[in-house]
Amino acid sequence: MKCKIISVTIFLFCLQKLHAQKSTTLLPRLEKQGNHVQLLVDNKPFLVLGGELGNSSASSHAYMRPIWPKLKQMNLNTVIVPVYWELIEPVERKFDFSSVDTLIKNARSNKMKLVLLWFGAWKNSMSCYAPAWVKTNTTKYPRTLDKNGSSHEILTPFNSNNLDADKRAFVKLLGHVKQVDVTQYTVIAIQVENEIGMLPDARTYDNAANTAFNQDVPEQLMSYLNKNKDNLLPEIKSIWEASGYRSSGKWEEVFGKGLATDEIFMAWFYASFANELAVAGKKVYQLPMIVNAALNRPGAKPGQYPSAGPLPHVMDIWKAAAPSIDLLAPDFYNPDFKHWCDLYTRAGDPLFIPEIRFEKGIDAKAFFAFGNYNCLAFSPFSIESTTQPEKEPIGKTYDVLEQLIPLITKHQVLGNIRGFLIEKDSIQKDIPFGDYLLTVHHEYKMGWSAGARDSIWPLAGGLIIAVAPHEFYVAGMGLVITFAPMVNNKKAGFISIDEGRFENNKWIPGRRMNGDQNHQGRHVRIPANEYNIQHVKLYSY
Ligand code: DGJ
Repeated sequence: MKCKIISVTIFLFCLQKLHAQKSTTLLPRLEKQGNHVQLLVDNKPFLVLGGELGNSSASSHAYMRPIWPKLKQMNLNTVIVPVYWELIEPVERKFDFSSVDTLIKNARSNKMKLVLLWFGAWKNSMSCYAPAWVKTNTTKYPRTLDKNGSSHEILTPFNSNNLDADKRAFVKLLGHVKQVDVTQYTVIAIQVENEIGMLPDARTYDNAANTAFNQDVPEQLMSYLNKNKDNLLPEIKSIWEASGYRSSGKWEEVFGKGLATDEIFMAWFYASFANELAVAGKKVYQLPMIVNAALNRPGAKPGQYPSAGPLPHVMDIWKAAAPSIDLLAPDFYNPDFKHWCDLYTRAGDPLFIPEIRFEKGIDAKAFFAFGNYNCLAFSPFSIESTTQPEKEPIGKTYDVLEQLIPLITKHQVLGNIRGFLIEKDSIQKDIPFGDYLLTVHHEYKMGWSAGARDSIWPLAGGLIIAVAPHEFYVAGMGLVITFAPMVNNKKAGFISIDEGRFENNKWIPGRRMNGDQNHQGRHVRIPANEYNIQHVKLYSY
């Protein structure tokens, strides 16, 4: 009998171990492959073809009901969606996760993943999602003060009650997600807060903040700066250099006097706060964690824009203070998409776009982002606002990109992929790619489409993947690509170009694209109103 009990115990122990192992392997996670970071979901490299919901949509199950089919029609594989502190903890320490459960249930039944946005202490600088018991007790949960001593509805990060209350709810949220989701992994990442940023001054002037401002720069930051002196981003490096690379001292001694230092100081404390949440949350459930930024308007001074969030010019401060935050992410409402993508990736970081304005041109930008950067996520904001989901260009783009996820993620790591973003008159000439030089221009330049006579042309975009030295997949819309071999005096000819689809990772060719479709063998072309993939084989003569 005793023997039987022991064997059953051993069996159960092994079963548990097996389950634990399985769970660890399947947890959504970020993994480094060479210089690249991959997001693994269900153990496979994954790209978030997402959409972020408008702020209030997910607060009502009934309101959400007609939205899910729309998201499906736009081929989203992930919904980026807020979860609200005020609804989750309406009464102090009494938690209600029904809103989260409903989201998870509906995401699963629509075969989608979720990225949850923790609308906790801060949402677009403000603390409007703090529960009433926090908002109304300003003695226990103090606010920031501006230079004139006037308070704002922004919880100060210099107060441990604020941190403890926010952290406790965040940890409970992760515990709950783990409990309901650890075998299915519907939730693949969590954003800590939303667009943290200081207003209307570059820093807060509450008493605790003033005290911290007159203390030495924390040792952790100084040692990060010293250790990474040669690799610091230029913005922080030049500020530190101007003060003679001082290795200790008060904030204004190390970084000089001015708004830039106020912002650095604030960034350190915001990032440390976010990091505390991430550390505590990951102890409970280790999901990838993101912090997003409202990009600053060029020319605006700290305080005039939401300052001290994870912006390019204070990225080093965020990295030093918040090592448990995995991704610093830009929200795109500014022009000059490429410029900001370059800034966010210049230190070798992946690109995660939780928000981009839902407007014309995002189809081209999505192709460009996944083709040109180590991009893990793309997600127009207020995606449910469309009235014609079946016609949305982003839906057609996602249909193409979803088929290509295995190829894109494989070749992002190998470096055999490029993206293009083409405006009306821009020609990108002689782009080196493997054995070839590529030239890419807008399809309207051929003058064949009626739209070519319009004064405004739609943005065109696409990507190319080299699967072998003379074999490529091209995807996108509105592009013409020509190939020239690197070898002098040789020309490139097409053996074949096939339009087609990937079904279950298998290439199913459709039309053979020859004659007028490749201008009698001169180029690869995807018309501006089409979204497709073409398989290209070349030879030289
Ligand atoms: C950026 C914020 O992160 C979103 O929550 C939303 O407020 C949009 N701005 C509105 O444009």
